[in-house]
Amino acid sequence: MCSIIGCIANSDVSETLVKGLKRMEYRGYDSVGIATSLDSKILLKKEVGRVNVVNSNLKLDTMPGHVGIGHTRWATHGQVNKINAHPHLCSDNSIAVVHNGIIENYWELRKDLEKEGIVFKSETDTEVIPNLLGSFFKQTGNIKEMLMKTVTKLKGQYSFIALLKDGSLIAARFHEPLIMGLGNKGYFVSSDVLGFIEKTDYVIYLENEQFVIIDGKGYKIYNFDGGLARYKINKISKQSNDVNKNGYEHFTRKEIFEQPSTILDTVNNSNNDWETFAEIMQNSPNVYITGSGTSYNIALVAKYLFPMYTTISPESIMSSEMNYSKDRLRKNSLLITISQSGESADVLEAVSIAKEKGLNVISIVNSLASSLERESDASLGLYCGTEIGVAATKSFTSQLSVFYKIIELISKQHIKFDFKTVSKLISEILDNEPTIMNIAKEIKNASDIYILGRGIHYPIAKEGALKIKELSYIHAEGFATGELKHGPLALMDKSSYVIAINPEDNTYQDNLSNIQEVKARGAKIIGLSNKHHDLYDHWIKIPHLEPSILYPLIEIIPFQLLAYHTSLEIGADPDYPRNLAKCVTVK
Ligand code: F6R
Repeated sequence: MCSIIGCIANSDVSETLVKGLKRMEYRGYDSVGIATSLDSKILLKKEVGRVNVVNSNLKLDTMPGHVGIGHTRWATHGQVNKINAHPHLCSDNSIAVVHNGIIENYWELRKDLEKEGIVFKSETDTEVIPNLLGSFFKQTGNIKEMLMKTVTKLKGQYSFIALLKDGSLIAARFHEPLIMGLGNKGYFVSSDVLGFIEKTDYVIYLENEQFVIIDGKGYKIYNFDGGLARYKINKISKQSNDVNKNGYEHFTRKEIFEQPSTILDTVNNSNNDWETFAEIMQNSPNVYITGSGTSYNIALVAKYLFPMYTTISPESIMSSEMNYSKDRLRKNSLLITISQSGESADVLEAVSIAKEKGLNVISIVNSLASSLERESDASLGLYCGTEIGVAATKSFTSQLSVFYKIIELISKQHIKFDFKTVSKLISEILDNEPTIMNIAKEIKNASDIYILGRGIHYPIAKEGALKIKELSYIHAEGFATGELKHGPLALMDKSSYVIAINPEDNTYQDNLSNIQEVKARGAKIIGLSNKHHDLYDHWIKIPHLEPSILYPLIEIIPFQLLAYHTSLEIGADPDYPRNLAKCVTVK
């Protein structure tokens, strides 16, 4: 979950590298570093901190050299400190490497290399890569052979870019994304097209088990066995260009406020083959839905939604649990994978398990240039624009909208949803931001927040809790309201805050009884409802909505705003919450 970038051009590349890293900081933001090659020497600067801060202290963007690599880190092996920051050098400083992923057998490799007299400087798994490369280069004197030998040694999932002191750039991909950009004035290689989006629209998606060698003469792509690889040059869609804050203070707030339009962009998008998708779903003997984090919460909503209006009863399986649930998968069935990034390692693993078991895989994905899109049998796009804020917001409501749209197509009752009204009601909730800001001020010091919801609102309680945890660092749990008395009630006291999702639908009356029980234990109640009740210490008003099955689309918005404003209250950065990264490409 780091970002890596490399560039070779006919002028200094450090400014391009820094700009690319800034755009990819969503992948990890513990520390940053750049290496360039100049006059057969490698220059290197790195430090702990965000790209802008480190750059203004170290002037990374003025480093000379027409070839270079860069990295932002999300620590896996070794603490967040300067020594562990990338790039890492081999023992004679002739090769620098940036890496994304995990080298599972790094300890054994390190011990072997130490026997050769190599002294390691960092605690990272990465440092074995430049040293293996260096050691094999000494043996073979050939870049291609050096790479082939190195990749046979490495186990895990990785992509890396190496800079050689002679100014060559090499990069390899094994179960982590790696994309090459072909510009008029240079070549790029990066974890994400965002790394070089300003420079070119033409890209090559390196396949798994491929590496590329780039030098002054051009580039060559090989398979790990050394054979020349077949590849396709793609033109990327303009969607990826939408990476500005457009006057908002944070991407997260911008993305929350885009939702009235993004849900319409999703359901009205004619690039998606909705009918075929609906037909495949209907004709599959079993439907499984998988995803991680927020995207998994969508699978939970779908589990409630589909049986209400269709004959489909999907089973939801967390992607990280797929390996341990695979015996449940039935051949010739359908796996629907949900992912914003299309790069989550757990989701990609779920796809490969499902394929081994003979399932058809269809993904619902925002990043259409992603590994998930390429590895699925078919995909539906979200078309909600790039989501930069680490907390998923607009992608959640777009993912949800996809399922409502599919339900329209296959419902027994031929139900129609008025998405325009939903969009209008989301705007109304957004106008209620001041109420939520006041509540954020009050809850900022809370140690526990419990969120309650029944039926279709239960997954929203879980998603609301996830947003609060991520952005406000407050412990938050989403419960099915009826479960309260089966244990969690023991947690409630005067210091507890309870947010009850309580619109006037078939869950309303039962909820009120449970809210009474919580109130009796001294907890403060925040009611999220279209209707006021005296039990509430605070009322977050949401509009009345018909049919009530649509409530999840609007009732998540107050949680997003609450998490965002509480984050500001505690002085955190909502776009870059601590310890997290937007795209989790490790297992
Ligand atoms: C929560 C969040 C994460 C992601 C999860 C899956 O706000 O952002 O829980 O939802 O890491 O990511 P994708 O959807 O990219 O596969």
